[in-house]
Amino acid sequence: MATASDLMHLEVELALEFVRVVEEAAVESAKTMGQGDAPKADAAAVKAMRRVMDTVPMHGTIVIGEGERDEAPMLYIGEHVGAKELDGVRYPEVDIAVDPLEGTNLCATGAPNSITVLAASERGGLLNAPDCYMEKLVVGQPSRGKVDLDAPVADNLKAIAKSLDRKVEDLVIVVLDRPRHKKLMADIRAAGARIHLIGDGDLSAGITAAVLGTGVHAVMGIGGAPEGVITAAAMRCLNGEILARLIVDTPELEQRVARMGIKDPKKIYRSEDLAPGKHILFAATGVTDGSLLRGVRFFGDGTRTQSLIMTHDTGKVRFVDSIHVNQGPEFKVRF
Ligand code: FBP
Repeated sequence: MATASDLMHLEVELALEFVRVVEEAAVESAKTMGQGDAPKADAAAVKAMRRVMDTVPMHGTIVIGEGERDEAPMLYIGEHVGAKELDGVRYPEVDIAVDPLEGTNLCATGAPNSITVLAASERGGLLNAPDCYMEKLVVGQPSRGKVDLDAPVADNLKAIAKSLDRKVEDLVIVVLDRPRHKKLMADIRAAGARIHLIGDGDLSAGITAAVLGTGVHAVMGIGGAPEGVITAAAMRCLNGEILARLIVDTPELEQRVARMGIKDPKKIYRSEDLAPGKHILFAATGVTDGSLLRGVRFFGDGTRTQSLIMTHDTGKVRFVDSIHVNQGPEFKVRF
């Protein structure tokens, strides 16, 4: 059970530590931008994230990561990370969900909205789920409690429009550009709303849907489950909502889900189910320029990054602009 000192630890002491983790991962993956090599971009982010994580004063466990132990050498589900202890005294337990590079193709092609990202909580505060697909509906605070994952698309759009005091025609819905979304797109178009199709990156799109004034009103469709859990952590901090259901469509996946302790694989999750923690932290750094964050900029004597760090309990949404200086005898810093 989390204590007041866990709160101090996660939200006060670890916030900047986690910024270092996502910053370093962003800088390393940004070095591969545009090289057309998505696995290389991802590997750079994973390696940097893993290295910096081990300097963080925590006893961390990866609950969502790069896959299972036998398929990922680092940041696999169940891996223990962090400095773990000091002089024989164990640091507090922290659960971590990572998507070291969200939008690997975006980074590999230099396209917008690639980010490095993680969420953290006290033990048990983030759903331990496999890296399968997930149906998602992400909305901002005004539409919380007014949408239903199983309702017809047109009904959800009407509810979102009403909650935002606008017409359905004025809505912008983000959808991943995938053949599986053909019917969803047709339903949105038939209802009269507008669509912003994205190549990748439904996690950062979900965050923009939860922030007023971004011009995005919802994200709909099927994407990755890890992205869904991390989106839920962001929703807890932004008071938005994600409704989601795992897509468990093979006997092998059914067994994996059962092994992870999920009793009802068809359950519709809300943000509080995917990220139930009392203490939730979300951290992301831009890799390529995007609607949420600026990408990494290299300027000869150093690097500049922009990060978003949010903590649920303390109600903080911080943008952190960092300059990482390559110290040499004549280094210059430009603001
Ligand atoms: P990665 O870069 O981590 O692979 O994820 C990109 C992404 O577009 C996610 O934003 C999304 O949830 C998922 O992939 C969708 O999966 P798929 O590309 O298989 O449709």
